[in-house]
Amino acid sequence: MSMQNTMLRADALKDRTVVITGGGTGLGRSMAEMFLRIGANVCITSRKLETLQKTAKELSEATGGQVLPIECDVRNHLDVDRLVASVVERFGSCDALVNNAAGNFISPTERLSPKAFEVIIGIVLQGTVNCTLAFGKHWIAKGERDKAILNITTTYAWTGSGYVVPSACAKAGVLALTRSLAVEWAKFGIRSNAIAPGPFPTKGAWDRLMPGELMEKFSLAKRVPLGRMGEHHELANLASYLISPFSAYVNGDVITIDGGEWLKGAGQFSQLEAIEPEMWDSIEKAVRGAKGS
Ligand code: HXC
Ligand code: NAP
Repeated sequence: MSMQNTMLRADALKDRTVVITGGGTGLGRSMAEMFLRIGANVCITSRKLETLQKTAKELSEATGGQVLPIECDVRNHLDVDRLVASVVERFGSCDALVNNAAGNFISPTERLSPKAFEVIIGIVLQGTVNCTLAFGKHWIAKGERDKAILNITTTYAWTGSGYVVPSACAKAGVLALTRSLAVEWAKFGIRSNAIAPGPFPTKGAWDRLMPGELMEKFSLAKRVPLGRMGEHHELANLASYLISPFSAYVNGDVITIDGGEWLKGAGQFSQLEAIEPEMWDSIEKAVRGAKGS
């Protein structure tokens, strides 16, 4: 299936405006495309205006929708204030914020400098906080309701993970923010939810998490019970639902979309799948033979 296979009908987000941080590349770009295909106006932001402009042109040509590219470093709250003003000026309002921008790389933690932690936590956690605060305050001040915040986190937000520790700390914070504001800001008509993706191929992630031979050495697909990686339209369809009025009663949840990957890692005996079917005869015999011992 492709990005054209939209789960929701073509006018599901008509007259709605969605801001996607990190929307020029990878999963952010794919979400932008799908939101456009179901009628939304979209604003994509990141640090690289040239990339954003190219993506905006390609997506508006492909979908006929309106795409506003805005340069904005989510770590800088003045940039974020300007982002809010630009979106309101162009589209009148904003209905959903997708906090998707991230930074990450693999490294043994003892090799990291304080600055390395700072840069990842700055993009992922402080960046999400900056955008959430700016849009949230705007909505609350204007008395606008029926708003959705969607945070892109990961499955190691709750398990933790070695070798990506700054990201794990930051994503855990994003999850806490999601759940906290789901309760606190519900009275303002603002919902907060999160998606925790498993492996979805993107250049940004693969270059930094699976460089060189690592991809062959540690097959990601083999870790997934469904035996494959995610397809972008699968995540984009889920995101469409979570920012749409169809999910109006979903608030404070984190939806995992990983083919069962993290549970497989957690299950004590998951590795028994390596046992060939014919070996189970002798194993069963041995286990039955243990009766009474
Ligand atoms: C150790 C490193 C390092 C490395 C950078 N640093 N790379 N330390 N090992 N491989 C250190 C630097 O030495 C520096 O510290 C500090 O980190 C900041 O590095 P800069 O290069 O100056 O930062 P910057 O140019 O702002 O780049 C940020 C970045 C970069 C995060 C390092 O990778 C980036 O721009 N990423 C954006 C996109 C991205 O990461 N996408 C992947 C998301 S995937 P010192 O002390 O030396 O100054 C994802 C998936 C999660 O999140 C789940 C997967 C299943
Ligand atoms: P990606 O293409 O590298 O996306 C990250 C985006 O964030 C880029 O567009 C980048 O653009 C932007 N960004 C980085 N720093 C920024 C900053 N300071 N201000 C504004 N934008 C910034 O990688 P991806 O795989 O699509 O990741 C998207 C999201 O999915 C992330 O939240 C990631 O953690 C999550 N995720 C991905 C996977 C996966 O398997 N791919 C798995 C779990 C979770 P610029 O460099 O132009 O700023």
